[in-house]
Amino acid sequence: PNPSILNVFDDSPTLVSSLADFVVKAQKEAVDKKGRFTIALSGGSLPKTLGGLIGHEGVKWDKWHVFYVDERVVPLDHPDSNHLACQAALFSKVAIPPAQIHTINVELLEDPDELADEYEKQLIQEFASRDSARFPVFDLILLGMGPDGHTASLFPGHELLQEADRWVASIDDSPKPPPKRITLTYPVINHAARVAFVATGEGKQDVLKDVLDHPELALPASRVKPNFPGQLYWFVDSAAAVKVTYP
Ligand code: 6PG
Repeated sequence: PNPSILNVFDDSPTLVSSLADFVVKAQKEAVDKKGRFTIALSGGSLPKTLGGLIGHEGVKWDKWHVFYVDERVVPLDHPDSNHLACQAALFSKVAIPPAQIHTINVELLEDPDELADEYEKQLIQEFASRDSARFPVFDLILLGMGPDGHTASLFPGHELLQEADRWVASIDDSPKPPPKRITLTYPVINHAARVAFVATGEGKQDVLKDVLDHPELALPASRVKPNFPGQLYWFVDSAAAVKVTYP
């Protein structure tokens, strides 16, 4: 893989606007090439950080095809839902056609495995007919990172870190509540054209150092290594980056 590109910002407004510029650039390249933009979004603090896209020049919301990197197995109007967080922070304020925002099928909440399979089918429908590749190639995947080094719903020591075939999988033992989730797997994340982590605040100091300076620890976030020509980016603030010596 290409070495990852680390961007450090002094404050939140600068990070937010620079991330928005980056997303718009990825969108432009994708739309120029194939008339659509496929993006996967994480939960946590990320949806709010995407606020810089609202009113940003050059955003073509009608070209966006949105998936979730991970989603909690809850109704779409539940406070834990990543979709609800994205809806509140972003989608309610912009004009993405609702059919292009891929939510989990809430009729399957009782069976997380089936829910994951159905979400995988939504991905297959979006990607398989366009790319002959074995895994989908997202134009952009946006990730967060927890203090334990997890990303998406891929947690330290979990068997899902070894998953090599499935595109989407369910877990029922997430150490970060709620326990039941579905998540994209590494093969999908690592096939994206671009992957970007967003990590901010003092609480991420130690883990950011571990992930960037000690890849040998193989924390979940360190296992994000997009296959060539995919590129990994980091958008972090100086509070999170104080201990980092990378590159
Ligand atoms: C989730 C997330 C998860 C998140 C990280 C970072 O749904 O729980 O997708 O992987 O991105 O836990 O969360 P923060 O950005 O809130 O620190």
